[in-house]
Amino acid sequence: MNISTLPQPIHAIIEQRKQQFQYAAPEAFQAYIAQNDDLVNDAAVAVALGKNILLKGPTGSGKTKLAESLAAQFGQPVHSINCSVDLDAEAMLGFKTIVEKDEQTQIEFVEGPVIQAMKNGHLLYIDEINMAKPETLPILNGVLDYRRQITNPFTGEVVTAKPSFTVMAAVNEGYAGTAPMNEALKNRFIVFDIPYISGGVLFDVLKQQSILQNDSLLRQFVSLSGDLTSLVESGRLPEEASSIRALLDACDLALYIPPVRAIESAIAGKLDDEREKAAVRNIAETWFA
Ligand SMILES: Nc1ncnc2c1ncn2[C@@H]1O[C@H](COP(=O)(O)OP(=O)(O)OP(=O)(O)O)[C@@H](O)[C@H]1O
Ligand SMILES: [Mg+2]
Repeated sequence: MNISTLPQPIHAIIEQRKQQFQYAAPEAFQAYIAQNDDLVNDAAVAVALGKNILLKGPTGSGKTKLAESLAAQFGQPVHSINCSVDLDAEAMLGFKTIVEKDEQTQIEFVEGPVIQAMKNGHLLYIDEINMAKPETLPILNGVLDYRRQITNPFTGEVVTAKPSFTVMAAVNEGYAGTAPMNEALKNRFIVFDIPYISGGVLFDVLKQQSILQNDSLLRQFVSLSGDLTSLVESGRLPEEASSIRALLDACDLALYIPPVRAIESAIAGKLDDEREKAAVRNIAETWFA
């Protein structure tokens, strides 16, 4: 992640936050590597300015990795919400519980990720934001716009976000079971497209994250990925066939089993259609037979 080209005032904000939170990313942390530095640069500017960002891209394209990397860059702790049809206000805002204190039974409110992030000026990561039921997230509208405020319905408390609070959300549009994102919700975000990486950048990610360290094999996997992407672009394979996550799994397995078999289970096996599986096997044979 190269953000050395950021404007000075943005650098100053990042430095200030690092000091404020005294947070250190784990030493072995592998940052997101971008095909195009503008993506990371622009996302970092948006986060520095307190704007909510929406990372949009297919499964395994690095959305979560990019969000984690931005958090590490700003030195800010992150609270997370995973959206599903079961997500409710309590999972976001918190819940009441009974505690024993001084030999008395009391009701206490346990703050949820939204309230904690707002009060501490931390980051909030909302994953799969379009998996939530349409009526669930509008409760956050005031949090996500200029008001940056919510009246907690469980306590009546009015919570205003600290200036460094920002929301990062991820969405995989077109994924089965997801609805298109509500327009008013989407309107509250700066949107960044996160495509699958390729070529030399992909090589760098594989080299950095796979246990397979053989350069020539890794280059073959990069070529395989290029061919898979061409078939995805021509509509003959679904988008997830070029997932970086699946490719990393295949590379890892290929340290100990033949690459063709690794590709069979890590990539072809995830596809439903027999013709699609055959297409992946064909490409695997051309590069590894
Ligand atoms: N550009 C990249 N730089 C570094 N790592 C990457 C990149 N792209 C993908 N990866 C790696 O690929 C894997 C999948 O990435 P990640 O989990 O962030 O995907 P995602 O977009 O959040 O997927 P999903 O929508 O399924 O949650 C991780 O191991 C991640 O480290
Ligand atoms: Mg993710």
